[in-house]
Amino acid sequence: ADALKIGIAGLGTVGASLARILVERREMLTTTCGRPIEIVAVSARDRNRDRGVDLSHVAWFDDPVALADNPQIDVFVELMGGAGDPAYSAVKTALARGVHVVTANKALLAAHGVELATIAEERGCLLNYEAAVAGGIPVIKALRESLTGNTVSRVYGIMNGTCNYILTKMEREGLSFAECLKEAQRLGYAEADPAFDIEGNDTAHKLSILTTLAFGNRIAADDIYLEGISNISIEDIRAAADLGYRIKLLGVAQKTETGIEQRVHPTMVPIESEIAQVDGVTNAVAIESDILGELLMVGPGAGGNATASAVLGDIADIAKSRPGAQRVPAFGRPAASLEPYKRAQ
Ligand code: NDP
Ligand code: HSE
Repeated sequence: ADALKIGIAGLGTVGASLARILVERREMLTTTCGRPIEIVAVSARDRNRDRGVDLSHVAWFDDPVALADNPQIDVFVELMGGAGDPAYSAVKTALARGVHVVTANKALLAAHGVELATIAEERGCLLNYEAAVAGGIPVIKALRESLTGNTVSRVYGIMNGTCNYILTKMEREGLSFAECLKEAQRLGYAEADPAFDIEGNDTAHKLSILTTLAFGNRIAADDIYLEGISNISIEDIRAAADLGYRIKLLGVAQKTETGIEQRVHPTMVPIESEIAQVDGVTNAVAIESDILGELLMVGPGAGGNATASAVLGDIADIAKSRPGAQRVPAFGRPAASLEPYKRAQ
C-alpha cells in the first residue's frame, strides 16, 4: 500500500523522539498499520542541530507554514508549541487544504480549538491531539470515543508532569523549588516558558480541553480559577504531611445545577488516596460518569518518548483509516453542536 507521508514541524523533545521512533520502528509500524509511515519533510529553527536521527534525505523547511502547505504531505504533525504563530497559521493552512493534523499543542487548542475543529470537519480531515493532555495517557480517546453515551459529571486530576515532579522531589529529597524545576527542564518535561507549568496555565489549557470533551461546551480556557505552585515551600509540604495530606496541583471541572465549574490550584489530598500516590512526572485523570462509574487513568504525563507514543498513536489511527471513512470529530461531536459555556454561579 502507499506510504502515509508526514511532515513534522518541531524537532525538539517530542519531535525528535517521534522521528527516532518512526525511523527505528519502520518495519513494525508498516506491519501494524498496513502501510509504511514515511517522514517526507521537517521544520525546525536550527538546521545544524543534531536530532539523534538521520534526516538527511528529508526535505527541510525553514518556514513551518510552507511545510503545512506542501502538496506532498498527507499528515501535518505540529510539535512546535505556542498558541500563536507559526503553530496557528501552520495548522490552519494544513486543515484548510484537507490535510490531517496531529498536534500535542494544548495552548493552541485552548485558544483556537473550536475554530480548528470546524475547519477540519468542513474539509473532512482529522484533528488528533491525544498528546496534548496528560502526555501518554489516552484520555482524549477515552472521553471522545470510549465514553460516548455516558453523562460525565466530573473530570479532575494531575495534568502537569513538571509540577508533580517538583512537588514529589521537594518532599522526597528536600531539594529547593528552583533545583527541582531545573531538573524537570533538563529532562524535557517543562514548557519552553516554564511559567506556564508552575503558574498553572498549562493545567488550565488541558482542563479546558477535557471540559469541552466531557460536557460538550465551547472551550473556555479563560474562565478557570487559577493558582499555581510557585509559592509552595518545603515547609508547606511538611505541614501538610504532618496532618496526613500531600499537596498536588489539581485541575477540576464539574457540572453543577447552575453551570460548569473549572479550577486549577494546589490541593491537600489525603495521603492514603490514590491520587496522593501519583509520583514524579506521572499524571492521573479521574472521570466520573453515569454508565461506567469512576475511571482513573494513571501514566507518564510528559517527556519525549511518552509524548511521542501518544502522537504516534494518532498518526497510526490515520494510517489505518480508510479513504472516505467517517471521521471522528475533534471534540467527539460536531463543532457546531458545542453549547455556549455557562459558568456555575
Ligand atoms: P521543544 O521546545 O523541545 O521543541 C520545539 C521545537 O519547535 C524545536 O525543534 C524548535 O526548533 C521548533 N520551533 C520552535 N519555533 C519554531 C519556528 N518558528 N519555526 C520552526 N520550528 C520552530 O518543545 P517540546 O518538544 O517539549 O514540545 C513540543 C509541543 O509538545 C508543545 O506544544 C508542548 O506543549 C507539547 N508537549 C510537550 C511535552 C513534553 O513533555 N515536552 C508533553 C506533551 C505535550 P529548534 O529545535 O531548532 O529550536
Ligand atoms: N510541560 C508539560 C508538563 C508537558 O510538564 O506536563 C506535558 O504536557
